[in-house]
Amino acid sequence: MKPERSFASDNNAGVHPAVLDAIVSANRGHVVGYGDDFYTESAIASFRQHFGNDIEVFFVFNGTAANVLGLKALTQSYHAVICTEPAHIYTDECGAPERFTGCKLIPLSAPQGKLTVEAVRAAYHGIGDQHHVQPRVIAITQATEMGTTYKPAEIRALSDFAHAHEMFVHMDGARIANAAAALGQSLRQATRDLGVDVLSFGGTKNGLMGGEAVVFFDKKLAENFLYVRKQGMQLASKMRFIAVQFEALLKDNLWVESARHANRMARFLEEEVRRIPQLKVVYPVEANGVFVKLPHEAIAKIQNRYFFYVWNEEQSVVRWMCSFDTTEDDIREFIKFVRAEVGG
Ligand SMILES: Cc1ncc(COP(=O)(O)O)c(C=O)c1O
Repeated sequence: MKPERSFASDNNAGVHPAVLDAIVSANRGHVVGYGDDFYTESAIASFRQHFGNDIEVFFVFNGTAANVLGLKALTQSYHAVICTEPAHIYTDECGAPERFTGCKLIPLSAPQGKLTVEAVRAAYHGIGDQHHVQPRVIAITQATEMGTTYKPAEIRALSDFAHAHEMFVHMDGARIANAAAALGQSLRQATRDLGVDVLSFGGTKNGLMGGEAVVFFDKKLAENFLYVRKQGMQLASKMRFIAVQFEALLKDNLWVESARHANRMARFLEEEVRRIPQLKVVYPVEANGVFVKLPHEAIAKIQNRYFFYVWNEEQSVVRWMCSFDTTEDDIREFIKFVRAEVGG
């Protein structure tokens, strides 16, 4: 029998029981659809407690939509979005950002998944030239696709550069909870206080059944977002069931406890991996993912029992993710199997 839990993705985990309970308790009677209901109002109030009263927040079904629609709100089709080569918006969204915004994405090589001001400055050209797309957004991911985190000063430097050059900062926060937990920041300190303009706030990877939020730190940027969301086919009629999930996550520190746990499990996994000489951890483990180089022939053998994704085929690097429900025993059992397969 295959093990109950694997390390393929934090999206492969189930729903946190407290989130499921919240869905069940909202499953009473009829309420008005499309967000005009008490539950949605209350969830928005929770967001405002975390991020400040003067924000706007909109719920959507998934992370790709949060990113695409957030970028859409910031751009015209002749604009460009500067991002990293491994950015989810560039590699894993099937061209949806380009399709829906019409913008060109300018991917920059980013060791360890992070943009730097130097790299952005080098890509910032053609300004005012009618033949060139006009850079409008610096798009960063926190925690990054490679399991690393931007330090606060690194984000601040990017925001300062963006704002000095009439650009915005968009943050793909599919794993913002993991990053904030790892850095000991509040959600606000990890985002708004560093100059981020629009945030895709991730819920699903941190224990929701499904739901993400687009958070605007400048209300003016959200002026037409109701229409953008509806045209983007992301307006949920039974909105209450997305809203209550967020309320459960943001209440009683569930967001940070779950994220801390996933991060702690990743560090434990890293320690165990480092004991096996045939394996090499390739990026700093700063959130809930561990990227490992291993003998190529072992990959398929391990995958026979544990499904996971190969991150880089040529380099024989794989990605192992931990979730809110990963246990130390899961890791011990996994490592025992890996060790046997690599002959350690
Ligand atoms: C960095 C990042 N951003 C966004 C997403 C959201 O994707 P989805 O549209 O599958 O919810 C993911 C999910 O894998 C991700 O890893």
